[in-house]
Amino acid sequence: MSDTSHAASGDESVLDGLDASAMSSLYWYLAVLACIGGFLFGYDTAVIGSVLDFIPYQLSPFWTGYLVAGASLGAGVGALAAGPLTDRFGRKSLLMADASVYAIGALLSAFTVSAAMLIASRTLIGLAVGADSAIATAYIAEFAPKGRRGQLSIIQQWMITVGILVSYLLALLVFVLAPGSAKNVDWRVILGIGAIPAIVAVLLRARMPESPRWLIHQGRYADTSAALGKLGVDVSEDEVRRTADRIKAADEDRPGGSRHVWTPGVKRALVIVSVFFVFQQITGINVPFYYGPQLLGGLFKNPGDTAVHAAVAGLVSAAILGLVNVIATYLGFRFIDRAGRRALALLGYAGMAVFMLVAAAGVAWLTGTPKIVVVMVGFSIFIASFAMGVGGTGWLLQGEVFPTAVRGRAAANCAAVNWIANFAIIQAFPSLQAAFGLPSVMVLLAVLSVLAFAFVFRFLPETKGLSVEEVVALFDEQAKGAPARPAPAG
Ligand code: BGC
Repeated sequence: MSDTSHAASGDESVLDGLDASAMSSLYWYLAVLACIGGFLFGYDTAVIGSVLDFIPYQLSPFWTGYLVAGASLGAGVGALAAGPLTDRFGRKSLLMADASVYAIGALLSAFTVSAAMLIASRTLIGLAVGADSAIATAYIAEFAPKGRRGQLSIIQQWMITVGILVSYLLALLVFVLAPGSAKNVDWRVILGIGAIPAIVAVLLRARMPESPRWLIHQGRYADTSAALGKLGVDVSEDEVRRTADRIKAADEDRPGGSRHVWTPGVKRALVIVSVFFVFQQITGINVPFYYGPQLLGGLFKNPGDTAVHAAVAGLVSAAILGLVNVIATYLGFRFIDRAGRRALALLGYAGMAVFMLVAAAGVAWLTGTPKIVVVMVGFSIFIASFAMGVGGTGWLLQGEVFPTAVRGRAAANCAAVNWIANFAIIQAFPSLQAAFGLPSVMVLLAVLSVLAFAFVFRFLPETKGLSVEEVVALFDEQAKGAPARPAPAG
């Protein structure tokens, strides 16, 4: 037991003990462990663009597109599958299973002998990334002290951004060290290296405690008391049982009673998080990540460069944007539990709207170096605004707003919406660009950020400082007509 332990006693719920416990290094460690999949998510979505030109198989445009965007669709399927499985088998089992699938997919892609095998292994990776994204923040929400839940969950976004950055840096390193092997060994190393963190995740996740909230919900009171003990909250099996009784009684009081877990409040939360996620994607965050290098590569590239030089040039600009993303996510981490989800999301979407317009102006009206500088600055602050207020906030809300009985399924549905929206915008962007021109599409993205701002302002309640049970009650109240409003102090 750590010195931060908190014993629940008397009338207090054992979950209050968890919510009130002081942060220990164990909590950080568990959050990082839960978010290793976030690293793989970022690494994997970004890495394919770096190696695509060097894969030595003849692929039709359809299968080339599948290698890039198909991973997002696969992730949507993985997320949907994870929901019922995690509600049935637990958070820890799923987190271990998906890291294993990822490791197998990464190894198969490194040792692939045919296009079909590469496509199959990329599909496995997509499924694993999606499943993991569905439950990582739900696991965190189920053990985090309520005042630090935001910070612990934003580690997921941080790991995503670090994964994206590392994918660019690693590809750069490999191409610079072995430019002659780009079509032989390099792309295999770059794709396969993700197996290392995945294997580490399987090994370390095997020792993490199962979610105490999920265990209570399963009626496994002795296991709950053991899991809480690992988390520094010492309670007896009887105390856990009393808390379980109290939760059941509270559930009976909720609209529709305990058999009705999909209450109007839960459905409302599902819609709000799903719409938030649609906006998170269709406002264009992945446009600079996927297409930015093409647009900005000219700044770093010389005429007559080889394909490897061109790849290196594109990777340098992508790495700069990736670094901005990692650094700005720190601001989200710093302020999410103090300023709150609403304030950060509003600021984030406002910044995204303004700086997408700045980048659009650069594209439309400038040439040469001024164009590159203005576009780069516009994209950088656009990304920073997203990183600070929108990226992590979405994944945090997805984990924290649902009741334990359906948290896995509901969070997984929202994650699937995120991946499908991700797929849709990435697929649609080139056609939109061809039809309307880049500056007009960028203005459209800015307008979508303004709509997102209005949506958050009107519908997203503040959830900072509340226990996950209080968050669920808040959405129930909202479903009855209470307005979205800042949380009471505390
Ligand atoms: C989004 C990803 C995006 C990443 C960028 C995540 O929150 O879901 O689509 O690539 O942020 O940092």
